[in-house]
Amino acid sequence: MHICRTIPEMRSITTKMRQEGKLGFVPTMGALHDGHVALIDQSVKENSNTVVSIFVNPTQFGDSNDLDNYPRNEATDFAILQKAGVKAVFVPGAGEIYSNNDETIVETTRLANSFHGITRPGHFRGVTTVVARLFNIVQADHAYFGKKDYQQLAIIRKMVDDLHFPIKIEAVETVRDIDGLALSSRNTLLSKPQRVAASILNIALEEAGLQLKSGETIETAIAAITSIIKPEPLAELKAADVVNANTFQLATGKPIDTICIMISVQFGDVLLIDQKELTFE
Ligand code: PAF
Repeated sequence: MHICRTIPEMRSITTKMRQEGKLGFVPTMGALHDGHVALIDQSVKENSNTVVSIFVNPTQFGDSNDLDNYPRNEATDFAILQKAGVKAVFVPGAGEIYSNNDETIVETTRLANSFHGITRPGHFRGVTTVVARLFNIVQADHAYFGKKDYQQLAIIRKMVDDLHFPIKIEAVETVRDIDGLALSSRNTLLSKPQRVAASILNIALEEAGLQLKSGETIETAIAAITSIIKPEPLAELKAADVVNANTFQLATGKPIDTICIMISVQFGDVLLIDQKELTFE
């Protein structure tokens, strides 16, 4: 596996890879887990070569503590990538991606500032700005994103569409722990009691899903989420919304087409998000 720390190194390798067939790309912030491996496995299956980036992107963190505390483990990550069949990893320093006199940002103006974007101002602008730069560096045919970060996925699709990036975005199902908690690098930051309590996200989503499937309204399903999460002293429900999956507009009343229930819950310093996608006749 090639380890590339500079843009010229990465570009010279991906130029060769593109001559060998389709190139898949999995952007990550490291601290890799089975959720990332699911993205990589799909890319390895669908492309001749797969490149993964590991870059803890400073522009998508609201507070510097969160950035400093983000888990980092390069050696373990490299071993996981090697085992998964990744051909090259891009591990740039912040100075390789950003410079002090940068002026260009990329933002999906409505989507970035709604739903999870309200509790994390500037977060999605940071995501699109870095992903646009990574796409331009790697120039892959396909890029893989998890459905857990449902709004991020919608935002990246919109950016690719609006800016005519020649890349296809592939969505991969959420991988869950045995108690239903969606895998996330942030889970390692939870204390033991917080980790036990965190299974409540999936419990609340499952209950809301059951209610919607049995004919209840979106408002009733959201009330069910609140009544499950509120009594848990370690959890603070930050947001619970249902959106139409195609338009990403707020959905109300009886659900139609494909909708997504999205929640974010704070445990101490750690914000966890999760989602459940459902289709109705
Ligand atoms: O989902 C993530 O890990 C990050 O937001 C991404 C897409 C790698 C951009 O930094």
